[in-house]
Amino acid sequence: MREGYKKYKPFEPIHYRERTWPDQVITQAPVWCSVDLRDGNQALVNPMNLEQKLEFFHMLCEIGFKEIEVGFPSASEIEYEILRALIERDLIPDDVTVQVLVQAREHLIRRTFEAIEGAKNVIVHFYNSTSTLQRKVVFNTDMQGVIDIAVEGARLIRRLTEEMQRTSDIHIRYEYSPESFSGTEVENSVWICDRVLEELGASPDNKVIINLPNTVEMSTPNTYADQVEYCIRHMKHRDSAVISVHPHNDRGCGIAATELAVMAGAERVEGTLFGNGERTGNVDIMNLALNLYSQGVDPQLDFSHMNHIKEVYEECTQMKVHPRHPYAGELVFTAFSGSHQDAINKGVNFMAREHSPYWEVPYLPIDPSDLGRQYEPIIRINSQSGKGGAAFVMQQSFGYQLPKAMHPEFGRIVKQACDRLGREITPAEVFDLFRQEYLEVAGPYHLLTYRIFTEDEGEGVVAHFEGTLRFDHETRQLSGRGNGPIDAFYNALGAVGITGYDFVSYNEHAVSGGSDSRAVSYIQLRHNGEIVFGVGMDSNISIATVKGIICAINRASGQHARTH
Ligand code: KIV
Ligand code: ZN
Repeated sequence: MREGYKKYKPFEPIHYRERTWPDQVITQAPVWCSVDLRDGNQALVNPMNLEQKLEFFHMLCEIGFKEIEVGFPSASEIEYEILRALIERDLIPDDVTVQVLVQAREHLIRRTFEAIEGAKNVIVHFYNSTSTLQRKVVFNTDMQGVIDIAVEGARLIRRLTEEMQRTSDIHIRYEYSPESFSGTEVENSVWICDRVLEELGASPDNKVIINLPNTVEMSTPNTYADQVEYCIRHMKHRDSAVISVHPHNDRGCGIAATELAVMAGAERVEGTLFGNGERTGNVDIMNLALNLYSQGVDPQLDFSHMNHIKEVYEECTQMKVHPRHPYAGELVFTAFSGSHQDAINKGVNFMAREHSPYWEVPYLPIDPSDLGRQYEPIIRINSQSGKGGAAFVMQQSFGYQLPKAMHPEFGRIVKQACDRLGREITPAEVFDLFRQEYLEVAGPYHLLTYRIFTEDEGEGVVAHFEGTLRFDHETRQLSGRGNGPIDAFYNALGAVGITGYDFVSYNEHAVSGGSDSRAVSYIQLRHNGEIVFGVGMDSNISIATVKGIICAINRASGQHARTH
């Protein structure tokens, strides 16, 4: 390995200083063409069977693809049959064009025309290889030889189209790919594309798709963009062409290369879902589309049921979507780190508070619910999670808005549980901890009966608390009055010697569980210089507060100490 790099020649950059693509911004979606059923399928260990292909085709239509390459019907019987099934069972929507791939060879072109009979809208996509390396090691020919192959193919395709259209109203468009374009001298690419356009009779009213594939990604994305822009600016018949790109991902730069190529003027993109395809795959159209979406550009494709799309994809291809795959991976809307969780929590609250029309949540480039994903798994709780994470789960999954001052205390309880268990804990387990720690806290004080009422005593309205409290194995009567329910309850406690609990703060809100709505009250007390929280719930807000105070007192006298 150490000296091995010496056998590789660096890619020669093209000398094109007139480039304009670095200053462009993508403001509209290109035309998308899915090649899942061809490039994607031919790269599978077990290619899809008829039923799987039909299911996949249907899903591509639902996502919104209007151009779909269905196969290479002249190359295999099964691909031929699949195209026939789509046509004969009338499964191709009127606004969808099926694309068929064929090498620029006579017998294959003839067979392809047999395969498309009866279709309404078809793109006949033909190609031959043009690169310097393939000319040298595969075909042993010069550029003129390669051009002759393309031109002959174009001539035959045009003739067969005219023949077919004499007896049917099939609508046929053409696409030509100088295959291995990325390894072809740009002047030669321009030369062959212009010749093919001439031979096909392309015009501004009858454009031909010129597809410039990054068949093998061999250079940095800026070089591919230069190659594309060079061709666009030097083709004589550019006005008669729709410029398409077909990037692969050998260097892992497929997305970047495609985006730069679109900035360079490409109007159409061929690719696959999740980047399936030959070797390292084709460019991932879902990823490209959602990159546009996240910039406020309508991608013209619908990924709002991402989990369903992923399921069909995985079932049909037997490939797995990586957990960190952009937008689609299981973990991509998950934050483990405390500071990230805290920032996400703040972002979500900010948006709700400010009614912001824009997505303004740190660490989440896109709203997971736009993809049919839920908030619940955004924040996963493990021992690295911070105080904000547990509070976020309580709010998002269960509707409890823990006051900010309480976050450190509950965060500590959750972290201790994760450490004890040695694993991540689920939202349901977070709620269980909350329930055990606050709602069902066991302690020496047990409020058996309670009643709060007010009386107008002449000098103003006075609140009364009356009830019974069990503690120290005794049941004591409580009775107190004050200027509000909390004051009255405190006075009742003081009368039986329960003192030393300073009231610090109080928050409350309603939580609805089905038909009934209950108040939850969070009480912060100070006892012997330490802060302790209590939580109370009841359909009556004053009783919820009283229960919250008892909870805090119980936690202060033992239960709370257990968690520290
Ligand atoms: O990658 C490629 O060059 C191809 C062509 C056939 C378009 O798949
Ligand atoms: Zn390809």
